[in-house]
Amino acid sequence: MKLSVIGAGYVGLITGACLAKLGHEVVFIDVDREKLEAINDRKAPPIYEEGLEELLSQIHIEGSSDYGKIADSDVIFICVDTLADDGGSIFLDNLLSATKQISQVLSKRESYYVIVVKSTLGPGMTEETVIPILEEGGRKAGKDFGVCMCPEFLREGQAVYDFMNPARIVIGEYDSRSGEMLDQLHRSFDAPIMHTSLRTAEMIKLASNGFLATRISFINEIGNICKQLGIDTYEVAQGMGLDSRIGSTFLNAGIGFGGSCLPKDLRILISRAQQVGYQPELLRNVAALNEKQALKPVELLKKHIPLKGATTGILGLAFKPGTDDVRNSRAIKIVQTLLAEGASVKAYDPLAVENFRKLFPNIDYVSREEAMNCDAILILTEWEEFKELDYRGKIVIDGRRIEKAREARIYEGVCW
Ligand code: UGA
Repeated sequence: MKLSVIGAGYVGLITGACLAKLGHEVVFIDVDREKLEAINDRKAPPIYEEGLEELLSQIHIEGSSDYGKIADSDVIFICVDTLADDGGSIFLDNLLSATKQISQVLSKRESYYVIVVKSTLGPGMTEETVIPILEEGGRKAGKDFGVCMCPEFLREGQAVYDFMNPARIVIGEYDSRSGEMLDQLHRSFDAPIMHTSLRTAEMIKLASNGFLATRISFINEIGNICKQLGIDTYEVAQGMGLDSRIGSTFLNAGIGFGGSCLPKDLRILISRAQQVGYQPELLRNVAALNEKQALKPVELLKKHIPLKGATTGILGLAFKPGTDDVRNSRAIKIVQTLLAEGASVKAYDPLAVENFRKLFPNIDYVSREEAMNCDAILILTEWEEFKELDYRGKIVIDGRRIEKAREARIYEGVCW
């Protein structure tokens, strides 16, 4: 099929590149020159994602800032950013502008095409916001063109693998013809395909991430209790996970969840609930507990050394291993607090230094060895390489349960 992807960011680039690998003709539309160069000149992609650079070198795709290129596409994916602010409002400028331009370019098109929203939206928003703009050109949704909402469930760091090996494919459809076209596009995947309404698909995405966030805050709460009682939370989680109704994933206690998705989706869900007059107490507490959890390492460190004048070594700046992404990374709040309390920071991360530097240009970015050679070490991301270090003789506050760190002279795990 002929496909267009609007927005060559994280979701768009992976979606388009993987579909090109499966034999489709793909054109990307973006305003960012760096992204377009990566696509057209086969330069390293602007984001780190395992397997992506290799994938881009194997396929032929085109990048452009000209919406005219989508004129004869069968399917157009909208993959632009919809970042929520702290209040949970969705930032719709990019989505609205992309939708307007799509609508203008396709207003004269005679043959049927499908618009697919992949950007995360609050339940109901594809119908309430996107479709009216698409219809501005005079074409009618469900008749002249189709509309689908296909949430993505890709984990950063494993996104290419996840795209090619999905656990499920959710197709929210406005009209059955568009749903059928997307079904065909995904038929080569060995995964159940579920057809729903647009708003149900939007809710499946938010509820999935909301549930994962809830599991993490739940186990962190259990961990905070365990810590007081001298119980090892990881043994507790193992015991819980053996129950097939519970399962063992997303029960790693620690300093909580970061990234661009879980915190954002939780905020969108909370604000959408409030808009319709419901107070989502559980979800609000999941978010609040996660904020508090980030400060545990600093509280624990204070028990052992005065922060004023101390040099702290930070191991890990990325919000999780396998990525250079620092959005909502726990390290942000921790570094801010350490600096505010008069400590100095020497930070190390195998991939995320450049992104963190944009937020904190004035702290020291050092080698792993130098970070280890500080008054105290804080482990904030569970990179594999941290599992092999020699922590003997050190003061270590561990936010991510690195077994070997327990050999430290003074060791504190946040939830164990
Ligand atoms: C998350 C979901 O897992 C994906 O399914 C979803 O597609 C994606 O959001 C999205 O909406 O695009 P991601 O943000 O890449 O993926 O990261 P996760 O692997 O879910 O981890 C999120 C955070 O939770 C990380 O900071 C991680 O360290 C933390 N975490 C995870 C824990 O603290 N404990 C755990 O047991 C698991």
